[in-house]
Amino acid sequence: MNIYDIIEKKKHSQPLSEEEISYFVEGYTNGDIPDYQASALLMAIYFAGLDKEETFLLTKAMLESGESVDLSKIPGIKADKHSTGGVGDKTSLILIPIIASLGLKSAKMSGRGLGHTGGTIDKLESIPGLKTSFERDSFFAIVEKCGAIIASQTANIAPADKKIYALRDVTATVDNVSLIASSIMSKKLACGADALVLDVKCGSGAFMKTEQGAQELASEMVGIAKRMGKSAKAIITDMSQPLGYYIGNALEVKESIYALKGNGPSDLMEVVYALASCLLTSVGMAETDEAAEEMSREAIASGKALDSFKHMVEAQGGDASYIQDESKLAASRLSLPLKSSKAGYIEAINCEETGLASLASGAGRQVIGESIDPGAGIVFSKKIGDPVGIGDEIATIYSSSEEKLMAAAEKLALAISVGENKADPPKLILGKVE
Ligand code: URA
Repeated sequence: MNIYDIIEKKKHSQPLSEEEISYFVEGYTNGDIPDYQASALLMAIYFAGLDKEETFLLTKAMLESGESVDLSKIPGIKADKHSTGGVGDKTSLILIPIIASLGLKSAKMSGRGLGHTGGTIDKLESIPGLKTSFERDSFFAIVEKCGAIIASQTANIAPADKKIYALRDVTATVDNVSLIASSIMSKKLACGADALVLDVKCGSGAFMKTEQGAQELASEMVGIAKRMGKSAKAIITDMSQPLGYYIGNALEVKESIYALKGNGPSDLMEVVYALASCLLTSVGMAETDEAAEEMSREAIASGKALDSFKHMVEAQGGDASYIQDESKLAASRLSLPLKSSKAGYIEAINCEETGLASLASGAGRQVIGESIDPGAGIVFSKKIGDPVGIGDEIATIYSSSEEKLMAAAEKLALAISVGENKADPPKLILGKVE
């Protein structure tokens, strides 16, 4: 077997065998196959596609390139969630405590911010003292004790995906449903949960710009998970404006604590409840979505979800007084309001541009490894469909740097448009795959 023949085969749209896919994944991961041949194969895959069987085999090969977490010793049902990434998407910080308080176990591994989208790990690290890297024994001990942990993904989870994803990033081969599905699922399946819920975002702030693309990605991922013996469901959610009102790291933790205290904004809570319902119904803890939502609402109303979050934060070394009193999660010292120059209605908030404005304020990284400003970001006061008058505040930008504040303001102003006619807020839950 050689890589030249495999590239040739895919160039002519022929399906690759399990041996050929494993040969590529192993060879590229261990350095035997050079970047230029792996790039050629990825581009051939991009144009010729992979069928369901090949996508499954690619997922499996990447999953098997590293370690899988064995959660079988932890009693109970282990649940996990993945979002394809959005702006203001802090649902994990609310969902995980809800399901933990209801008795599910969650050993969640998350990532850092990527491009215009935020990362759960960066958000959590804005709580003073909180650690996200653990030795194996401490990781398991926290899940046993609190029912939940949110930790950084370790390097030995799907190393093949890490290398292939980095190559896709620089060869314009990211936006292919099979490659995205196999990349995400190789990592998620390695985390060892029994039940998975996937939030596939769709719109200006998402990888998948169209509903059809998001639906295809969701079906592909659910299919892979089921073939691996997991219960899995996906929802497709709108990302044509940010989720909730707060964007940034400490700012999003703050909004999550509001939510856990019963004061979450309706759009954010709609997605959280839909995700919780998928998990609770798929593991048989609720018969219907309505019953599941009621359980989640009760977890918040009773304070049990907030307690779960507090315990998890404490167990991860974080200062739980910041959860008790979220006003301690300070925004950066400089702020600038963005005011409307005309009267009308908020017509659009370009999500990708908003994410880039937040990144420019210091909430994200322009280059790998850069430190972030935990209190930087944006707090919106209006959303699509809201009326505005001349001089009304639409959002406030926070940063520790004057220069970054101005750069973010310039970008954010371009992301928002005000029209004369009332626009309808976008429908949030666009579909479901089970
Ligand atoms: N996220 C991933 O982990 N992989 C992709 O291919 C795209 C988004």
